[in-house]
Amino acid sequence: MPFVNIKKQYLAIGMLVFVLLFLFNTRPAFQCQFNAEVSPYLPVIYGITPTYVRLAQKADLTRLSQTLMHVKNFHWVVIEDSLEKTKLVANLLKESNLKYTHLNIKTHKTKHSTPVPLMRIKGARGLLASGVEQRNLALDWLRGHLDKSENKAGVVYFMDDDNTYSLKVFDEMRKVKRVGVWPVGIVGGMRVEMPLVSDGKVSGYNAWWKPFRPFPIDMAGFAINATLFLEHPEAKFSRKVQSGFQESEILKYFTTKEELEPLADNCTKVYVWHTRTQKPSILNPKKLKRPIVPDDHIEV
Ligand code: UGA
Ligand code: MN
Repeated sequence: MPFVNIKKQYLAIGMLVFVLLFLFNTRPAFQCQFNAEVSPYLPVIYGITPTYVRLAQKADLTRLSQTLMHVKNFHWVVIEDSLEKTKLVANLLKESNLKYTHLNIKTHKTKHSTPVPLMRIKGARGLLASGVEQRNLALDWLRGHLDKSENKAGVVYFMDDDNTYSLKVFDEMRKVKRVGVWPVGIVGGMRVEMPLVSDGKVSGYNAWWKPFRPFPIDMAGFAINATLFLEHPEAKFSRKVQSGFQESEILKYFTTKEELEPLADNCTKVYVWHTRTQKPSILNPKKLKRPIVPDDHIEV
């Protein structure tokens, strides 16, 4: 009998080890399976992305959406700068399996607006800022959505469609209490534009482009607690401010330099890059001496 008991003990220990090994081994698969799903314990990240029709749009949105597929509790608010929603964006969103809201509003260009090529010159950046109407529409949607939501915990991140985002930046922004900040790579003529931190507080900024901005930070370098948008229904972007001041325009409603929460290892790590997709140059089929097969029916 004692012999049988010992065997049972061995069996029990063996099974325990097996179960532990099984759990340990399957953990990555487990995480993977639940990646894009919703957890009640994580604040929702509302990524707000204006976008407009251009040749590289699908390429840019594909790259971005495939990054976002790896982010838990993410809600993508995509606002097209157009009178109508396009099929290209609608299909891309549908096929992404992401949680999303698709909106559209056309930028109101006055007679005196700067033409597109000029406004995209770096440094002159945005004599007519992009994304103002689109982001404001998204904020209206957000307020309505949060009003109805039981769980209002969330964080708002304004994301250009052509930037490059490390998954780490999303982990950082979930720590935000009011407004969190971090460095942005390759922007404003610098390798990295970043808040300077001493004793855990933002003491200044390392920015070359318009350093007199109240918050010399790029749009990709901060996130805001979503509930603050309910506390400040007046907070929005404005067409009335000079170029490069949109970030300061929205931040001024919520925070001061002293209150900013430095993230990404006290603002020493770069987890987002202000990359810009080069405008592709395409041959004009009408001007070609040798005919080419028409490709208008193919979505690029
Ligand atoms: C910089 C900032 O990173 C942007 O957040 C800011 O909106 C912009 O300057 C500005 O103030 O104009 P930059 O690379 O110069 O970014 O701008 P884009 O990436 O061309 O545009 C920013 C966002 O607006 C993009 O998601 C883009 O798709 C969208 N956009 C651009 C429009 O919706 N309509 C346009 O006519 C142009
Ligand atoms: Mn950009």
